[in-house]
Amino acid sequence: MDRRDFVRACATTALACAIDPSVFSKAIAQTQGMVKTFSRAPLLTQDGKPLRESQIQPHKNYIFFYPYVSTPCFLINLGEEVSAQEVKLKSGQSYRWPGGVGSKKSIVAYSAICAHQWSYPTKQYSFINYYPPNKPSDTTKRAGIIQCCAHLALYDPKAGGAILDGPAEAPLAAILLEEKDGQIFATGVIGRDQFNEFFENAKQELRQQYGSSAKAREQVDKCVVQEIEKYVQSVVMC
Ligand code: FES
Repeated sequence: MDRRDFVRACATTALACAIDPSVFSKAIAQTQGMVKTFSRAPLLTQDGKPLRESQIQPHKNYIFFYPYVSTPCFLINLGEEVSAQEVKLKSGQSYRWPGGVGSKKSIVAYSAICAHQWSYPTKQYSFINYYPPNKPSDTTKRAGIIQCCAHLALYDPKAGGAILDGPAEAPLAAILLEEKDGQIFATGVIGRDQFNEFFENAKQELRQQYGSSAKAREQVDKCVVQEIEKYVQSVVMC
């Protein structure tokens, strides 16, 4: 970028920030690598039809894979409006999570890879799960949270995946969603996604399941959504 382009880019950003301050946070997050854009992938039912907002039941834990074929995400309808929030990292950096989508702004999505040591839902078991308001954790007595039973990391799905308690050093990365005419699309990831650490750590399992590391890293252009119990044999709640 030459100097003239740089000045023009600064002026454009300043104008956008004056109109909408959230643009500023987004711009900072982008500068710091907190936002990654991937394919605009429609969320689909298991029979390949567009998943309608009305089909996402409140407080049910759904799973889909995005932005890679092997990276699981939670889709949750929190049943109430969830507004945009500033999410802080331990480094002091922060980024603005845009909140829920849909007619009630209640639908959110997060990477289901624990930000502590990358526990994730496999076909056999899932130690990391959403605990709906009527099903508190036996161990922490908390509800309405995402909890990982591996070492009890707790994340807040109403606050961009912020850390509530436990050993995680970073919030859960959030999946950016977009709703258009009742249909929902995944468009990117915001936060510290840790996909590289996950690919490295789960290398053997991913090779077994997908045939090679390269295949496990293929990006998706659509996402089939299913209830977590249909994908995982043993959903471990603790
Ligand atoms: S891997 Fe999830 S808490 Fe440690």
